[in-house]
Amino acid sequence: CGIVGYIGKRDVAPLLLEGLQRLEYRGYDSAGIALHAGGKAGGLKTAKAKGRVRELEARLPKRFAGTTGIAHTRWATHGAPNDVNAHPHMDNDEKVAVVHNGIIDNASELRARLTAEGVTFLSDTDTEVLAHLVGRSQAETLEEKVREAVRHIEGTYGIAVLHADFPDRIVVARNGSPVVLGIGEKEMFVSSDVAALVSHTRQVVTLDDGEMATLKADDYRTYTTEGSRTSAQPTTVEWEAESYDMGGHDTYMHKEIYEQADAVDRALRGRIDDRFSTVHLGGLNLDARDARAVRRVKILGCGTSYHAGQIGAQMIEELARIPADAEPASEFRYRNPVVDPDTLYIAVSQSGETYDVLAAVQELKRKGARVLGLVNVVGSAIARETDGGIYVHAGPEVCVVSTKCFTNMVVSFGLLALHLGRTRDLSVADGKRIIEGLRKLPAQISEILANEGEIEKLAAEYADAKSMLFIGRVRGYPVAREASLKLKEVSYIHAEAYPASELKHGPLALIEPAMPTVAIVPDDELLEKNRAALEEIKARSGRILAVAHQVQEKADHTIVVPKNEHELDAILMGIPLQLFAYHTAKAMGRDIDKPRNLAKSVTVE
Ligand code: G6P
Repeated sequence: CGIVGYIGKRDVAPLLLEGLQRLEYRGYDSAGIALHAGGKAGGLKTAKAKGRVRELEARLPKRFAGTTGIAHTRWATHGAPNDVNAHPHMDNDEKVAVVHNGIIDNASELRARLTAEGVTFLSDTDTEVLAHLVGRSQAETLEEKVREAVRHIEGTYGIAVLHADFPDRIVVARNGSPVVLGIGEKEMFVSSDVAALVSHTRQVVTLDDGEMATLKADDYRTYTTEGSRTSAQPTTVEWEAESYDMGGHDTYMHKEIYEQADAVDRALRGRIDDRFSTVHLGGLNLDARDARAVRRVKILGCGTSYHAGQIGAQMIEELARIPADAEPASEFRYRNPVVDPDTLYIAVSQSGETYDVLAAVQELKRKGARVLGLVNVVGSAIARETDGGIYVHAGPEVCVVSTKCFTNMVVSFGLLALHLGRTRDLSVADGKRIIEGLRKLPAQISEILANEGEIEKLAAEYADAKSMLFIGRVRGYPVAREASLKLKEVSYIHAEAYPASELKHGPLALIEPAMPTVAIVPDDELLEKNRAALEEIKARSGRILAVAHQVQEKADHTIVVPKNEHELDAILMGIPLQLFAYHTAKAMGRDIDKPRNLAKSVTVE
């Protein structure tokens, strides 16, 4: 979900719509705006619509003017996506409007209590209780009303509140869901994401959990939910507004696929140490002695980031010879994991906000573990809660499905693996070899992308498949998993990934011409084994598309990718399959940047 708010002199509705558009990738079930119609007599006005922001825009009433307002784009958790459940939510007197990200755990309890007190609920959302709580508070100031309301709440929230009787301010609060203030000249902005702020101001204040703020046109102040003042200072955002524009591409996905050579270059910049054939990772907060004391590495992430973690674990095992594995953070936190003091935990996340990952980090910290972050968004919750880490520097990623950020995560894991390796038994010569491999990546990525025409043709050839199998072995298996996720997310074609070695233990039964296989076939020590798997498929009349370092005779088609060091090959082999997923989805007319039912950051359980 996304929140945006403005207070100043300008006409607020167009500003809020623009902000919502920038946040749409965070949720797009429904959207809404509330504004002050001006003066105490003016009261609040709202407009809401199911569907995309453009739906809301078409539906704005003729007279919908004001200079203070809040808005929201939703990814449904409680209650179906419809007009009524869209935010902002109001109290029964229509004096209070609230937009909310997060989940209120005790909503049904509060709802029952408020209903018994005579409140009428209009929606099925958990958020509506907040509007009623603020509305019913007898406190004098809006700040106190909001403070009183959040005291009743268990769960997570990032909220922005308007009140008809306090037209000169917006009050916001944060607990677990991001709230960022944008500081302008005689105008103030608020959002859940800097993406909605950067076209207006680069000066931002990120609230901490338990912090609130009052925004007035020419002033802001921050304080805790207990009421004591805090001194949050503005920082300057590095990301340029242009990075949020499509820049001539038809979708963000396409744009972001094409940004990968530059993004990888950025991840490497300033980090390579040729003298000692290692890398400097400034924020790691792990000296050589700490690094040597690590006996296991456990990587936690969700979705694409989990797959990046799987490749990362493989690299760490190979280069540093430390046992390593990756697990979905969502599973880890629910199985009462044994937390071991000699294990290095790494939380991997593009947004740095994914609730399941954050909760896993908090549980680990509570048990005294050392946790590092591998994160894209600077200053995000996971970056702040971890003991140190690596920023992957992919730049803003807007398409819901991750491409460039995945690649930069894997490259960053390569850097970490090299660093850990060089504090142990990885030789100077091998360190050099890996550094050379890393340096080759940007040019090799460009080489792969230059092949787009051929990949587009292949996508057309396979777009009729109802289902596809993706196979790979060891280094290739997580590549297959990520490629199959990419395809199903954007094209809605069912895709399943399997280790090639497990084919004969089940999935061979599915092979027939209507079930094509995509096979990851690197030129490594497993080449012959992989070829044998292709033969098994061919013998059962299966169609095969191979991604390989040389043409595979048994395959119907091969996408040839440039060879790097075998430890790093996994970084490159998935890239043509990003384009494959993109072109398949395009041929099928899918909504590529905003696949149905998904959201970019899942900040709820
Ligand atoms: C959502 C997105 C995925 C993403 C996952 C983890 O499910 O749709 O694309 O991989 O969250 O997000 P994170 O920000 O933690 O990397």
